[in-house]
Amino acid sequence: PQRGKHGPLVGAVDQGTSSTRFLVFAAGSGEVLTYHQEEVAQLYPKEGWVEQDPDELLNSSLKCIEKTVDNLRSLEIDPADIKAVGLTNQRETTIVWDKTTGKSLYNAIVWLDARTASTVEELLKETPGQNKDHIKDICGLPITTYFSALKLRWLLDNVPEVRAAADKGNLLFGTVDTWLLWNLTGAMEGGLHVTDVTNASRTMLMNLRTLKWEPGLCKYFKIPQNVLPEIRSSSEIYGYITQGPLLGVPISGMLGDQQAALVGQMCLSRGQAKNTYGTGCFLLYNTGTQVVQSTHGMLTTVGYKLGKNADTFYALEGSVAIAGAAVRWLRDNLGIIKTSGDIEALAKTVKDSGGVYFVPAFSGLFAPYWRADARGTICGLTQGSTKAHLARAALEAVCFQTREILDSMQKDSGITLSHLRVDGGMTCNNTLMQLQADIAGVSVDRPSMVETTALGAAMAAGAAEGIGVWDLSKLQPLTTDNFVPTILPAERESRYERWCMAVERCMGWEL
Ligand code: G3P
Repeated sequence: PQRGKHGPLVGAVDQGTSSTRFLVFAAGSGEVLTYHQEEVAQLYPKEGWVEQDPDELLNSSLKCIEKTVDNLRSLEIDPADIKAVGLTNQRETTIVWDKTTGKSLYNAIVWLDARTASTVEELLKETPGQNKDHIKDICGLPITTYFSALKLRWLLDNVPEVRAAADKGNLLFGTVDTWLLWNLTGAMEGGLHVTDVTNASRTMLMNLRTLKWEPGLCKYFKIPQNVLPEIRSSSEIYGYITQGPLLGVPISGMLGDQQAALVGQMCLSRGQAKNTYGTGCFLLYNTGTQVVQSTHGMLTTVGYKLGKNADTFYALEGSVAIAGAAVRWLRDNLGIIKTSGDIEALAKTVKDSGGVYFVPAFSGLFAPYWRADARGTICGLTQGSTKAHLARAALEAVCFQTREILDSMQKDSGITLSHLRVDGGMTCNNTLMQLQADIAGVSVDRPSMVETTALGAAMAAGAAEGIGVWDLSKLQPLTTDNFVPTILPAERESRYERWCMAVERCMGWEL
């Protein structure tokens, strides 16, 4: 292989809910040179429960690194040109392990998992005014099943091995970033027990302003503070890889996947926003160095802190639980498509959804409703409804949910976005993009390079102090394809009204 052919390179592990990837970027151009992807399984042991195997999350990451390095060699690029690696991950997903054996003590409880719905109810009964937003001022989040604290609490209460390890002082908690970092940097032999500010901001245990674990919140959720990782910035050398073909390469960037996409889309100034279409769909709006609280169901979260001494940027977030997961459901549970990519061809065989509305509230509804009692609902079926109408309704559901988020953001910030920057796996679907423009009434701007999540993690890693191969001050905006609305406002509003009727009907199912 030829050394230095593309200048310094930076790798990024992107461990998502549906798949794991490792991508290699040329630090100079930001171009993706090669990557490898592995799908990861989701387990549904009971209604509303969603788990994953922590070893699969780790092993798929190691395999992706290996395969990508093989690809580099085939391209005659020297893997030794990789100067740093960034990690980005599905957020909130909760893993516990024993630091003396390195073994996880239970499956990962995935962010979508709603098993703690009754714990939420009990906790709210003891909370003044039964107010979901009781701790929102400190951590930015409503008390719901989504975030890590209650998942960890459930593990301590229900899994004897977890409680025993905690009692012996051997228990470690981590979100997926922490689990990967601990293992990649040596596990039992000196593995780092560290998270970054963005991932920590999704636990309900971190104080948004001090960026430290908040003792009052740990007490409220009955979480022993000594199981929590150390919180660091999103861009600094945390440690070095101790195994595989990238042995000795520093890990120097870490961000939750939605925050990484914010960075990768170069939304680094106040007022910029992006929407990522993955398993779920997440719109983040950069509010600058100020913590802005929403009164319309948005979350307040850390956007990024790119360096130990860098300013902390915050974001308002609209989280939609089910986007690509609805397509996966049509594929795996109904079998009406063979691959996720087939959805577009099927949806295009009809000109509209034939009055079918599909609210995929499989694990309740997230923003702006935060209703654990919502369940998936299909309305408007007629004798003439077909699988194509349902496929189209699934795509429209993603767009209507985004429209709800945009409306709430507008109410919170007073700003109407005229352009929506999008990214993520689903955005290669042109029909979805056009539906989004029509349903939200905005121009939808899709970058030519949609791997912005991995790019953000690579940027954080490459720009870290001591690495310095990526200069964030020389950022070039990504070029985009634009989709503009093609329907009249009256039609947009009447379709949206129908959607709202369908949403009303999906509420009130049992917990
Ligand atoms: O908060 C959950 C989010 O991080 C999951 O992202 O890409 O797996 O849909 P994704």
